[in-house]
Amino acid sequence: MVEHFFDVERVRGSSPLPPTSIMKILAIETSCDDTAVSIVEVKGSLTKPVFKVLANNISSQIKIHRAWGGVVPSLAKREHSKNLAPLLIKSLKDANLFSDKEKTRPNFAKTKLSRAGKILERELELRKNFLQIIAKLKIPKIDAIAVTKGPGLEPALWVGINFAKALAWLWDKPLYPVNHLEGHILVTLASPIKNKIRFPLIALIVSGGHTELVLSKDWLKYKIIGRTRDDAAGEAFDKVARILDLPYPGGPEISKLAQKISAQGRPASSWKLPRPMLHSGDFDFSFSGLKTAVLYLAQKLKSENKFTEKTKAEIAFDFQESVIEVLTKKTLSACQKYKAKTIIAGGGVIANTSLRDVLQKMAEENQLQFLIPDLSYSTDNATMIALAAGLRFLASQGKISRTFKAEGNLSLK
Ligand code: KG4
Ligand code: ZN
Repeated sequence: MVEHFFDVERVRGSSPLPPTSIMKILAIETSCDDTAVSIVEVKGSLTKPVFKVLANNISSQIKIHRAWGGVVPSLAKREHSKNLAPLLIKSLKDANLFSDKEKTRPNFAKTKLSRAGKILERELELRKNFLQIIAKLKIPKIDAIAVTKGPGLEPALWVGINFAKALAWLWDKPLYPVNHLEGHILVTLASPIKNKIRFPLIALIVSGGHTELVLSKDWLKYKIIGRTRDDAAGEAFDKVARILDLPYPGGPEISKLAQKISAQGRPASSWKLPRPMLHSGDFDFSFSGLKTAVLYLAQKLKSENKFTEKTKAEIAFDFQESVIEVLTKKTLSACQKYKAKTIIAGGGVIANTSLRDVLQKMAEENQLQFLIPDLSYSTDNATMIALAAGLRFLASQGKISRTFKAEGNLSLK
């Protein structure tokens, strides 16, 4: 993928405003199959950040990808291109920052518009909307733009990045590239936190693309101490769901099915699925063998004519129990080894209510502070991107750039 070098890197110091001001950040997230735009007000300080979500809009593409059994990058790219402009307008309206009145309309120089159009030359639908609608809006009173730089699907990431670059260029705003995984960790700050966060902390990130245990000894400092060696936890949920004839995304479907069993108590099945890497002595994970064990079990039950709604629910339950047990026990050992005082959990799989409950209980029993995002902020959203940019801004660590690229494999540092 070619990058549009349309401007020299503009880094005016490390942050554009003194850390005492209030800053409104417009954030864009397109790393996978959710198109998301948020506007968040940021104030306070690094140790006492105050965030106010002014707009949080998401357009889910689940129905489109469901027909294919998983996310199709080219379709995700097309949908982002279609959804971004309407979501931006809705977000500006929600935040009371919208005006397209005749007398407030800006008169951008032709060269400025054509440059913005050039940045979007690969996103045809977005380019059309941008030039016909967005370029006619009054420049909103936001202070910065943030966008997911990675990790994720590169064709999908590029749409958001090019949109953010075109907006930053047209409106002359600083642009912050953000690591999606840092967003999943910091989004817990979207809800007010009773007590000061105590370090060291262990972050458990479990999403469709990642399963990582991260040690953080201070704000914005990360060391990955364990990760999956093959499938991510969310990916395993999605693949096991397919084996059980459930639609994409599999996480919520397995969770629903497993709940039928949990409500009735533990099944007396004749099998127990493996708990992979539970005693490996490190903090790595592996879920691909567990998925294969489910596949063999499903094939065996089918050959015995026992692959029924009941046994499927039992498999979903046992699979979920296995993932929860491994994630929880490894998170606890990581806390013990690194003398952590806090656990932060984040990523789409954290939307799983049983996992939330078990982690919470484990944290309580071990006197650990436990932070978890609200359900609505567990799966992908743009508020998490605004928060990550906002916190880096408060720490004077926010790097402004207009020449960065999408990085599908970007990792936490
Ligand atoms: O963080 P996310 O929205 O996107 C990525 O960054 O990957 O995570 C999506 C993943 C999917 O694999 C989905 O099946 C899983 O999160 N997920 C769940 C639940 N809700 C979403 N997994 C288990 N239980 C859930 N309730
Ligand atoms: Zn995510």
